[in-house]
Amino acid sequence: MIGPYADWDMEPLERAFVVHRLWQAADPAALVAGPARDVRAVATRGDLGLARAVMDALPALEMIGCFGVGVDAIDLVEAKRRGIRVTSTPDVLTDDVADLALGLMLAVSRKIVEGDSYYRSGQWATALLPLATRLSGKRLGIVGLGRIGQAVARRAAAFGMPIAYFARTARAGSPYPFHASLTELAANSDVLVATLAGGSATARIIDAAVFKALGPSGIFINVARGSVADEEALIAALSSGAIAGAGLDVFLNEPNPDPRFLTLPNTVLQPHVGSGTVESRRAMGQLVRDNLAAHFAGQPLLTPVV
Ligand code: 8YV
Repeated sequence: MIGPYADWDMEPLERAFVVHRLWQAADPAALVAGPARDVRAVATRGDLGLARAVMDALPALEMIGCFGVGVDAIDLVEAKRRGIRVTSTPDVLTDDVADLALGLMLAVSRKIVEGDSYYRSGQWATALLPLATRLSGKRLGIVGLGRIGQAVARRAAAFGMPIAYFARTARAGSPYPFHASLTELAANSDVLVATLAGGSATARIIDAAVFKALGPSGIFINVARGSVADEEALIAALSSGAIAGAGLDVFLNEPNPDPRFLTLPNTVLQPHVGSGTVESRRAMGQLVRDNLAAHFAGQPLLTPVV
């Protein structure tokens, strides 16, 4: 295992397998080269992935179980080349990630965090809280219309938000207008939400030009991966007022993101908790364990990626 799971997953994993805990190893390289050299499966998380050096050091590796739907930190091409199966945990977390995206939209547009601070600081009787802005009816642009993007769209429709999207290709049968240009989508959106997969193909796809197009009344939401935004451009846009605000659940260099985010008043910051509910995390862990059990029983994998 690359990193810890909750106890309700660690206990059954320890009962079913010989588990080597890489994150607790005094010398991880020695563990992989020694006692763990012959492992046949790795259990990791979306935020941790599997370092290529570790994959290279495991000649008996057959399967990688990823606790998470984002597998951008796993070299899928190399895994496929070596015949290593990879599983993820889609669907079971979709609603919670989409719920958080809506929560961030509301928190930023309605200044919920500022209102809480205003109340707790005792200013209610002595100062006026600046007005917020309405979310309902605002134009929503979705970057990436996969499972989570579609779930965000369903929620936003209930808020009366006109919805459009950007993706590599138009989604057949989608009821929403497709924009082949991300900048054009941003120019026609009041709220831009990133729900696309991370990885090299989408790195920094949301850049300074997109933030400029989103504009000074625009709000950016990211529940995808920190890598999909040009973080320098994002910080600059928030600092200069080029965009009005952002709700961010993902960052580069997690869990130690750029400290400049802490200085930005017009952001709501979350520590990568999109799937962070008991319901999602229990279902994710169960899915990782079910895929491992299926693999070792010679049965079809439940949620294969590779
Ligand atoms: C993380 C996520 O995986 O599903 C994903 O890809 O981003 C999260 O659920 C996180 O590492 C879960 O611990």
